[in-house]
Amino acid sequence: MCGIVGFAKSDCLKDTLDALQLLEYRGYDSAGVAYLGNGEIVVVKRKGSIEGLRRKVGRKKTDLTIAHTRWATHGKVSTVNAHPHAYGDWAIVHNGIVTNYASLRADLERRGHVFRSTTDSEVIAHLLQEGGKKGDALAAIRYTMGRIEGSYAVAALCRYSPNRVYLFKKGNPLVVGKGEGFGCFASDTPALVAYTHRVYKMQDGEIAAVGKREILFWREGETEGGRRTFGTTSLTLSNVTKGDYATYMQKEIDEIPSTADRTYRAYETPPMGWKGAEMERWILVGCGTAYHAALLGASLCKGEAIVASEFDADAMQVDDKTGVIAISQSGETADTLKAALDAKSKGGYLVAVTNVPGSSLTHLADEVLLTLSGAEIGVAATKSYTTQLAILARIAEWLGYRKPTPSPLVPLTSVLSSSATLAEVAKRRWSTIFLLGKGRDYVTCLEGGLKLKEIAYLHCEVCYAGEIKHGPLALVTRKTLVVVVCTDEEALQADLCALSEVRSRDATVAVISPYDELCRAGDHAVRLPDGKGWEQAVGIVPLQQLALWSALYKELDPDRPRNLAKSVTVK
Ligand code: AGP
Repeated sequence: MCGIVGFAKSDCLKDTLDALQLLEYRGYDSAGVAYLGNGEIVVVKRKGSIEGLRRKVGRKKTDLTIAHTRWATHGKVSTVNAHPHAYGDWAIVHNGIVTNYASLRADLERRGHVFRSTTDSEVIAHLLQEGGKKGDALAAIRYTMGRIEGSYAVAALCRYSPNRVYLFKKGNPLVVGKGEGFGCFASDTPALVAYTHRVYKMQDGEIAAVGKREILFWREGETEGGRRTFGTTSLTLSNVTKGDYATYMQKEIDEIPSTADRTYRAYETPPMGWKGAEMERWILVGCGTAYHAALLGASLCKGEAIVASEFDADAMQVDDKTGVIAISQSGETADTLKAALDAKSKGGYLVAVTNVPGSSLTHLADEVLLTLSGAEIGVAATKSYTTQLAILARIAEWLGYRKPTPSPLVPLTSVLSSSATLAEVAKRRWSTIFLLGKGRDYVTCLEGGLKLKEIAYLHCEVCYAGEIKHGPLALVTRKTLVVVVCTDEEALQADLCALSEVRSRDATVAVISPYDELCRAGDHAVRLPDGKGWEQAVGIVPLQQLALWSALYKELDPDRPRNLAKSVTVK
């Protein structure tokens, strides 16, 4: 969603904008930067691209910056609503939502504060000013933290504390980086790896003061600032940049075989302390793609999948014999975190399947199973999905529901080259795309449909193969593309029937299947390799590629689709 970055570093304005650009993938509609120059806070912000901001900023010298990409939630997209927000001695950037901002604002206005924007975030700058009247920045921050409700990661510049950037957080991530003679911070580690690999993920309730040579932290109630042990991130610049690829999405699809292989191999045995065997039932939660992984995981682990925003631990009678698997690439999705907290509050055994070490979800979980996807920058979840499936397969093995198989490396490598027939399909303008499948292939269709919608803005209907004749067939015309996914021999007859039903309404049919009979019946076919127990991981790849190519033919940027953010940190 929104992105934060900043530096305490000599002449760091260019570094700040370069690092901000590494956060573009999170999605944004405006951007801004504040810096300290000659003892004054200067704010430059605008609606639109970071390139535009770069031109507006020009070349200025400063050693202290905060910067932000905004994805509007409270207040429309405009330059005045872009961050940073400045008031009095302070300028701030904020990720999250201040839920009680309306009453805070009304109160501050009664006391003479004049607001410029219509955002929830601006109240933070006003509260800092209000709480810092005695010139004590730390007291101002504590005053503010004591009043705002909701979630926040805040970076703040203070005119009377000109050598430090202040950070404070609750519920939204902030990573502090340390280099030779400089400090830096960001909402996401990828923004920092061009500068340092030494990082510390701040805890909720912590305050930090980032200077060039010294970085200090305070926990609640502490008056003396302390130091922290910085870890080393394994992310490299090549992980977080496109290299020779035109899009992150293509790069990340190409990384599917190696990352799924690495993840599956890493979990041959359960981790020490695994309590899965003691559980009497399993519930799997996630949002979007992670929910689709949950659906497949539930079928593998004989559990139940539920969309995280619909999860209710009380109604679902979660107790200490209930294992709850929370799946989230980012580990920061607000709905998933809320479900995880809810499950924990009822004594559930919380297992986190996430790609981001140190993310908020990992702090809540009893057991963390990290997917080894490397950074996933494209907004579309691609390689993270297949690594989630690899871990869920392992959990099913640990629970005795599945036999270990060879890793998915071979079938996934093979499927990457077999989708080319869909490039032709991607060129045409379809009024609707139907995706049909049965059993687990239906879940593959759900995930493929999500990719086509979010990346290529195509209208998709996902339907059980046997259900199309019960109503949805009315929508099928000669302008409809129907994609039939079949990786299960037992579904073959049902899929053949559905195929002839849509064919007789003049639809164009593309088949994704290892079965000759079905492939021959389609106008276009992707002949899948033998999935060797990884049919769903294999079956999704041609649909991801179809979504990517459809976006590219429409001259859309698949890495940064409209109205979407990489991680959705609001409920
Ligand atoms: C996937 O392509 C989407 N971008 C989206 O559905 C995503 O999977 C969802 O928002 C959940 O994100 P998470 O895995 O980071 O929790």
